[in-house]
Amino acid sequence: MSTVGALDLGTLALSRKEDFQVFVDAPRRTQPERLNRMELPALVEQARSAYDRARRQWHANLGPIRTPQLGALHEDLWDTVDSNQQDGDKAKGAVAVDAFPGLGKTTAVLAFAREFHHREIAEHGAFTAQGHERWPVCRVGLTGNTGMKDLNRAMLECFGHPGRQTSTAAQLGLQALDCMLLCEVRLLILDDLHFLKWRRTSGIEVSNHLKWIANEFPVTLLKVGVGLADKGLFSEGERSGDTALAQTGRRTTRLGMPPFTIDTEQGRRHWRHLLLALEQHMVLADAYPGMLADDLSDYLFARSTGHIGSLMTLINRGCQRAVRTGAECLSQELLDRVRNDAGAEQARTELAYALTAGKATSRPRRKQPAP
Ligand SMILES: Nc1ncnc2c1ncn2[C@@H]1O[C@H](COP(=O)(O)OP(=O)(O)O)[C@@H](O)[C@H]1O
Ligand SMILES: [Mg+2]
Repeated sequence: MSTVGALDLGTLALSRKEDFQVFVDAPRRTQPERLNRMELPALVEQARSAYDRARRQWHANLGPIRTPQLGALHEDLWDTVDSNQQDGDKAKGAVAVDAFPGLGKTTAVLAFAREFHHREIAEHGAFTAQGHERWPVCRVGLTGNTGMKDLNRAMLECFGHPGRQTSTAAQLGLQALDCMLLCEVRLLILDDLHFLKWRRTSGIEVSNHLKWIANEFPVTLLKVGVGLADKGLFSEGERSGDTALAQTGRRTTRLGMPPFTIDTEQGRRHWRHLLLALEQHMVLADAYPGMLADDLSDYLFARSTGHIGSLMTLINRGCQRAVRTGAECLSQELLDRVRNDAGAEQARTELAYALTAGKATSRPRRKQPAP
């Protein structure tokens, strides 16, 4: 029933290499044992509160579940990083994961970063030939309105290199390059890249900066964000004279992260598999096989509209409530009282109508109730 020991993953911002180390080294959480209705009351008070605390933590950190979207993204990322092991003078292909918020981009990319880190360390050792720490991955998460200089400084901060206040953006960039060369970084992740200041006039400037990174840094550049295509990141120089943008477009492979859909049989099967996987993770005394996949399939789809972020929020909050109130299972009645994010709530009404009116279903054909 132990969690990840003394480490508190909840407060990690992952902006420094030390945080990233804790993240990649954290052992998988162990699922608390599922006690039944007889065993639960038998716990003495102290044991019971420890058990419920373990369940709270567990339900708040479900996953990552290997969804088809996550699996496909990982395959594409492996293809890219492995094909980028050409010699240094060849420009490397970049990848952009471009999708709406809450579809699991950050989760999938971090899970990949972790696997990649482990593989590189296992193959090449924790230190470089020159005796520096090896950091196969450098990850920067951008926040509101980051400028180019802030971006360079954030890259430096990853390495605990403060970067002098007086340095120019270019100097900071060069220092970051230095750090990455010494630590033999192979994968540079810029998460939430849409926060980079991107005014129409400086679009070229941003694009050039990213191109400079892609050209000079011996890394696979992985850009993650929302609406990157609209920012002109992939446009092949539609506006006359935008050759800089055109080049970025050519070298960047765009990957998506689609929501779950129920308009095809395969889509419905994927949705069902996700719910079955989640059922395995519930630690509630009265949980039963089919609790989600049979009895709540349509309901959960309507409330999340197939967005994994909304689904996980709902499941997490529902489980917390089921533990706290003693309900010990998820039902429509309980979930009706749980609030979800605003976007999901808005899309919900329309979809709920179609589902209850029998105009749509979230379940694969052979799993549908007999008419
Ligand atoms: N494969 C997954 N398994 C379990 N939970 C997931 C998975 N993908 C996303 N989530 C949950 O959905 C929420 C949103 O995911 P996130 O990766 O932050 O999305 P994005 O970066 O696209 O906005 C997170 O809280 C995360 O816990
Ligand atoms: Mg994200």
